[in-house]
Amino acid sequence: MHKIAVIPGDGTGPEVIREGLKVLEAVARATGFKYKLKEYDFGGERYLKTGEALPDSAPAELRKMDAIYLGAVGHPDVPPGVLEHGILLKLRFSLDQYINLRPVRLYPGVDTPLKDKGPEEIDFVVVRENTEGLYAGIGGFLRKGTPDEVAVQEMVCTRKGAERCIRYAFEYAREHGRKKVTLCDKANVLTYAHDLWRRTFSDVAADYPGIETDTAFVDAICMWMVKNPEWFEVIVTCNMFGDIITDLGAMIQGGMGVAAGGNINPESVSMFEPIGGSAPKYTGKDVINPIAAIAALQMMLEYLGEEEAAQRVDRAIARACSEKMKSMSAGKMGYSTSQVGDLVAGFAENG
Ligand code: IPM
Ligand code: MN
Repeated sequence: MHKIAVIPGDGTGPEVIREGLKVLEAVARATGFKYKLKEYDFGGERYLKTGEALPDSAPAELRKMDAIYLGAVGHPDVPPGVLEHGILLKLRFSLDQYINLRPVRLYPGVDTPLKDKGPEEIDFVVVRENTEGLYAGIGGFLRKGTPDEVAVQEMVCTRKGAERCIRYAFEYAREHGRKKVTLCDKANVLTYAHDLWRRTFSDVAADYPGIETDTAFVDAICMWMVKNPEWFEVIVTCNMFGDIITDLGAMIQGGMGVAAGGNINPESVSMFEPIGGSAPKYTGKDVINPIAAIAALQMMLEYLGEEEAAQRVDRAIARACSEKMKSMSAGKMGYSTSQVGDLVAGFAENG
């Protein structure tokens, strides 16, 4: 019995999660596994009512679950940053979800803005460090609000943090038949923080003689992701660069309606989410694309060890994209949000 925490969150979060859960129900029936859901109301509405983003008891309670399925956080009436820090980053940090795994994969039939590139060329994963770097939140102001103001925000890189992330990337490559791991950094400028990453990368690589390695600066990575995405199989990188290059990745794989990710703690509880955010302007219209949330569900099934179910969902997404949907953009899919959910659930249930 898998215990799954569900945090639908804000905006279109609840709409896309509903479709993901529809698909979950269908594959559980088809492949015969059991699960139990527990829903949490964390998000903007709750914050506006109670003044609390996340109750103090949440991390301990969530740690007892097998996985967390998250919709989106971000509310138009809550100042930017409050929910992002108070819920999303708080959970990533307190649950020590030190990997953010983001596949960049073009499903068949999905449009990419890259000319002459298709599913063969756009198929890699980004392994983003998820608990330190520029996200550590260390810093402060001096003489705030005066003309002499100083703001400092530290980039925190630890050997342990870099090593466990890089090792995860190599293990991922080995387990998924990937032959190359590329380190994305800025070692030419961040001569301390990313020197540590470079040295750690070559130390860890020595344990994986069968896997080819490469290093590239983040600015060049952005260029190659557009020009030659086929060069990449697994990219490993720090928190901030991972954030930036995965939005670029989302665009080349068909947009925010498709891109999914997992916040992973291999030793504890992991959290899966569509990476597109709460999309307030589409909220409640039944037009948002639920494919990203369904792809996040697929990652969660794989993580829970439900291989067959994960594969069914994967094939079902590919079929819905290639045989049915006209576009991956909200309102242009040719189907409503719930109809896309029905399509994928139907395909997944029937194999
Ligand atoms: C993401 C988001 C978050 C991040 C924000 C909402 C804090 O952009 O998951 O990529 O920067 O990690
Ligand atoms: Mn981001």
